[in-house]
Amino acid sequence: MESLPHLGVGLGFRPPLRSSIFLHRDQIDFLEITSDHYIDASEKKLAELDLLREHFTLIPHSLDLSLGSAEGIDEAYLEKLATLVELIDPPWFSDHICFTRSGGIKIGHLAPLPFSNEALRVLIDNIARVKQRIATPLILENITYNIEFASSEMPETEFIRTLLEETDCGMLLDVTNLYINSRNLGFDWRQYVEELPLDRVVQLHFVGFRSTGGRLVDAHADPTADDVWQVFREVVSRCDVKGAILERDENFPDFTDIADEIAKARGIFDDGQMKRKAATSS
Ligand SMILES: [Fe+2]
Repeated sequence: MESLPHLGVGLGFRPPLRSSIFLHRDQIDFLEITSDHYIDASEKKLAELDLLREHFTLIPHSLDLSLGSAEGIDEAYLEKLATLVELIDPPWFSDHICFTRSGGIKIGHLAPLPFSNEALRVLIDNIARVKQRIATPLILENITYNIEFASSEMPETEFIRTLLEETDCGMLLDVTNLYINSRNLGFDWRQYVEELPLDRVVQLHFVGFRSTGGRLVDAHADPTADDVWQVFREVVSRCDVKGAILERDENFPDFTDIADEIAKARGIFDDGQMKRKAATSS
C-alpha cells in the first residue's frame, strides 16, 4: 500500500453536481466514479467519462462485483469492469465486502456476510479471480448492516484483517458506515479502529447519516456530523491514508457547502498526517 500515491480529498461524482464540480475544480483533489454507470453505457455517458478523465484523477468504485457470492464472480461483469479500469488506469479501484447477487439474481443492495471462515474462503477465492484479471490494486469497503449472524465465528475486525492479509488488498474504510454500525449495534468504534490493520487503509469515505426510529441510516444525504468527523480525525492521525471521498448522493446543498466540507476534511487530513509524522519521527 505504501507505494500508492496521495490523492488528497475529493468527491463522489454525481451527475447533478457536474457543472459545479467543474466550476470548483481547484477545490477537489480527485473524483470517485460509480463504475456501474459507465458499464454498458451510452455514448453520452462515455463522453462524460472522457471529460472527467481529462480534468481529474478518477477512482472507479463498483457496486456489483459481489465478492461474497458463493457461486463465484460473474465473468461478464468482471470483463466489463476490467475494460473500464484499463481505460481509466487509476492508482486503485474499489468494491465492497458483501454480496449483491445470489443464484445469479441481482438482489439490488449491498448484503452483509457472516464473519465466518466459509465466507472468508468465498471472498478470498473470488478476489483471487478478480486480481488475476485486473492488475490494478483493489481496495475493499466496510458496509453498514443491521443484523448479526449466528454463524459468525469472529469479530468483524478479525474477519477484515484476515481477508486483507490473505488477498493482499487495501481497505476503503467508510468512517460513516463504521460510526453507524457502532451506534446501531452498540460497539466502541475506537476499539474497532484499534483492531483494524491500519497499514492497509488506503482510502476513506465520509458523509452524514439519518436517524430514523432510533436507528442510524447511511442515507448519504446529510452534512458530515461531528461524531463522524471524530472518527475521521482519529483514523487520519493513525495511518497513512492516501485519499478521502465525500460520498454525498442526494439532497444536495449549495455547492459551496460541499466545497467547505471537502476543505474541512483536507484540514483535518493534513493535520492528522502531520501529527502522525511527528509521532513516528520522535
Ligand atoms: Fe461508502
